[in-house]
Amino acid sequence: MNARILLVDDDTALLDALPEALRLRMNGIQIDTSETAVDALERIKQTDYDAIVSDVKMPGMDGLALLHEIRELRPSTPTLMITGHGERELAVQALRGGAYDFVQKPIDRDYFIASLERAIQRRVLVRQVEEQRLALERHARVLEHVDDGVFLVDDEGVIRHWNPAAEAITGIGSPEALGRRVEETLPGWEAVAPLIPVASVPRPGSVEAKVVPLEFDGRELWLSISGVTFSDGVVYAFRSLTEERALEELKGEFIATVSHELRTPLAAIYGSAQTLLREDIELDESGQKRLLDVIAQESERLSRIADDILFANKLDSGQFVLGEKRIDLLALAREVVDQMRACFASRDDISIDLEVPATIDSLVGDSDKLRQVLINLIDNAVKYSPDGGRIDVAVEARDGGVRISIRDEGIGIAPLEQRRIFGKFYRVDPALTRGVGGTGLGLYICRELVRRMEGRLSVRSEEGKGSTFIVELPVQAAGDSDRGAAVAQTA
Ligand SMILES: Nc1ncnc2c1ncn2[C@@H]1O[C@H](COP(=O)(O)OP(=O)(O)OP(=O)(O)O)[C@@H](O)[C@H]1O
Ligand SMILES: [Mg+2]
Repeated sequence: MNARILLVDDDTALLDALPEALRLRMNGIQIDTSETAVDALERIKQTDYDAIVSDVKMPGMDGLALLHEIRELRPSTPTLMITGHGERELAVQALRGGAYDFVQKPIDRDYFIASLERAIQRRVLVRQVEEQRLALERHARVLEHVDDGVFLVDDEGVIRHWNPAAEAITGIGSPEALGRRVEETLPGWEAVAPLIPVASVPRPGSVEAKVVPLEFDGRELWLSISGVTFSDGVVYAFRSLTEERALEELKGEFIATVSHELRTPLAAIYGSAQTLLREDIELDESGQKRLLDVIAQESERLSRIADDILFANKLDSGQFVLGEKRIDLLALAREVVDQMRACFASRDDISIDLEVPATIDSLVGDSDKLRQVLINLIDNAVKYSPDGGRIDVAVEARDGGVRISIRDEGIGIAPLEQRRIFGKFYRVDPALTRGVGGTGLGLYICRELVRRMEGRLSVRSEEGKGSTFIVELPVQAAGDSDRGAAVAQTA
């Protein structure tokens, strides 16, 4: 027993004899002695003894007063009191004062040693519990600061710890998680739990984390998760891969879309060129012209796709600066509408109408980019009106700004899709858009451009009835007109 105790007694004979006897019977015990309570207190302040044995009756400060001090100073140190024979009253007082036990003089050594051993044992246990508690607290504090979500599930399947990162990743607060069964807190847990690797030794890399989907409040999260068992359960640590995964999926879709989009014009170009090259087919002039037109048109389409991809990338990487010039919006709208009418001259099931007021405040911005926005929106309006219909483009002054709306009578957009279509490369399922092609970049570019012009692009639509895309732009404030003019000169 590697314990250290303090023996306090004014009886020097006892202080000589008792330690000897104890050392013989209690292997490895370390014993300090004090002849007075005052000296004892000094030692107790310095040393955290495993047990203290003190005489009750001492000159000066007596044992009961010392006991009182010990209780204040070292509340978890067990103290055994030695009382005179028959001093029941004192013994009771000592016990009331918090003594661990008492022994009467003459000391019955067997009883004394047994009691002292119990006291030391208890002290060691208390100390261990305290150390474990501190270690746990320390770990818990560390867990507060890690970026990984960490939670602890006990053997009963109840969540006992839920760190702030777990809260941040899942959106589930610790009050909702703590004390609840894990499958109640994490829907889908039963299905994924068997897939999660759980190690028995907490070594880095001892298990490979597994990526599993879990649903939180209707949103699916992909978590990279692994566990480690401990005496009362399993500690799980996880990271969210949702964003990385979403990006991966988007990339995959993009590649599929782009390769499909490239293949269609390429096939048309290739086919036309092959036909032109064949010697066994006699083509008249108009036949040749038709094929050359296909080649020219499809090449243009190819280069537009490439331009869009490059431009979207430019927008993202912040390499793009908008021009600032005074824009005559009415003239611009007329031009674009004329151009689009010419483009879709072959679609005699489509009519494009323009409604403009007599005058409108001038805008300052990038007219090329605004033109690009309007072209994209009208192009969509025509493309997604496979059965034809009217397209109305209207320009009007609104709340200190201008509003340009493009309304079609086409296939419309389901409510859930209305927000998504502005995403990069996002396309509504071709089965729903009746096979109309595209890269899904048009609206992304439009929204980004309008946003950079400090405006807003929004949509209203009803499936099967048609859609209206609305561009709202601020008009230039009166005081800014000089700046606009100056920029116009330098640009
Ligand atoms: N006027 C519209 N009516 C119905 N659906 C539309 C309309 N405009 C856009 N959409 C839907 O929004 C999606 C995204 O449009 P966006 O213009 O970004 O891409 P796209 O037309 O598919 O390709 P592109 O990059 O060639 O323009 C389209 O796939 C289509 O499903
Ligand atoms: Mg488009």
